[in-house]
Amino acid sequence: MKNVFNVAQGLKTMMRTSRIPGFYNLSVAERLSRIVEYAGLTEEEARLLSKEGNLSLDIADKMVENVIGTMAYPFSVALNFLIDGKEYIVPMVIEETSVVAAASNAAKMTRAKGGIFTDATDPIMIGQVQLTEVTSPFTARMKILEHRDEILKLANEQDPVLVKFGGGARDVEVKVVDSPAGPMVITHLLVDVRDAMGANAVNTMCEAVAPLIERLTGGKVCLRIVSNLADKRLVRARATVAKEEVGGEEGVDAIVKAWAFAASDPYRAATHNKGILNGCIAVALATGQDHRAIEAGAHAYAARTGRYMPLSVWEKDENGDLAGTLEMPMAVGLVGGATKTHPVAKVAVKILGVKTATELARVMGAVGLAQNLAALRALALEGIQAGHMRLHARNIAIQAGATGDLIDRVAEQMVRERKIRFDRAQELVKEFTEKVA
Ligand code: MEV
Repeated sequence: MKNVFNVAQGLKTMMRTSRIPGFYNLSVAERLSRIVEYAGLTEEEARLLSKEGNLSLDIADKMVENVIGTMAYPFSVALNFLIDGKEYIVPMVIEETSVVAAASNAAKMTRAKGGIFTDATDPIMIGQVQLTEVTSPFTARMKILEHRDEILKLANEQDPVLVKFGGGARDVEVKVVDSPAGPMVITHLLVDVRDAMGANAVNTMCEAVAPLIERLTGGKVCLRIVSNLADKRLVRARATVAKEEVGGEEGVDAIVKAWAFAASDPYRAATHNKGILNGCIAVALATGQDHRAIEAGAHAYAARTGRYMPLSVWEKDENGDLAGTLEMPMAVGLVGGATKTHPVAKVAVKILGVKTATELARVMGAVGLAQNLAALRALALEGIQAGHMRLHARNIAIQAGATGDLIDRVAEQMVRERKIRFDRAQELVKEFTEKVA
């Protein structure tokens, strides 16, 4: 480390510029020394960046470009998850306090009614091929559809391994869209990506079929890329929470009302969904997923009707209990990407004990629902609990001999002090009465 620092000091005379040609070709230590110089980092600060934790600089350098160090985040586990009858301890990586405790508490609340139940579609990702410069787009659409089998065959030739494992291109959908740059013919390639997140496989297939689409239509293909609106790769989760867990029917009603707020106001829905993603993304980080893809998919799905909506629904069931459901895209993988390269992600997957990407997606949906429950409970019931406390304090004040205005004064003081006790009420009654006298 001393060397890095010395080199950096030696470079101090260099001009401060963000243009550093060949930066990516330097070693991690050399890059760091350039940044030490650029930002005037102390030796201690440089050491902090280059300190190797559970991700070696060597691996980090192979994962992304221009690496100068690594950064650690807390790795926690949420407990109490019973999902589809199976116990899960859920690894979560997050910087925000209370999220892990909230997930654990909410998961516990679901257990009395069997835990959280989930379901998922097949892991179908969508790849898009953008065709432009077509004079008769609707005829082009038909021609593409007529050659569906040929397109699928060509796509599947790109990934024999995926096909061997039961995946592959399954279908072709074509739409004509009106764009500011004129009409476009958009082909969707629907690909079962099995245990992969799938972006690479889908992109490769889209690139492979593009020339065929051009030949069939005489148009010009521009983009060939996966869509993060993974609405054919959905996860569903549902849970029932006994009313006693949320302060009785009054609590159930308050939570339903909190959800209804999100269902009618996108400003609230964004925060509501952020709470869901607190859970999903923490698991995504722990298991090395492309969490931006999950976030993009979640928000786009939330807005699919043209209006941004909550990803979950909370309602009261026939017993007066609280019933929650959630549906959202969940593009996650167990093969490829950081899940395979980050040593800690591998450990996280082992702790979680999931065997397929679909199982991981189902757990993440369950965690999202639990996280949402915890947030709504805290937000909606705090008011009620405070109200209950005040009522309780008034009763104690009356028991301690308070009458008239004194009841509220004694009660409020006890709530402020968080000492709602008979002996304290007696003291306060005495104190306030003496003051008046
Ligand atoms: C904070 O990270 C998440 C919440 O704001 C979610 C919500 O409001 O539902 C508590």
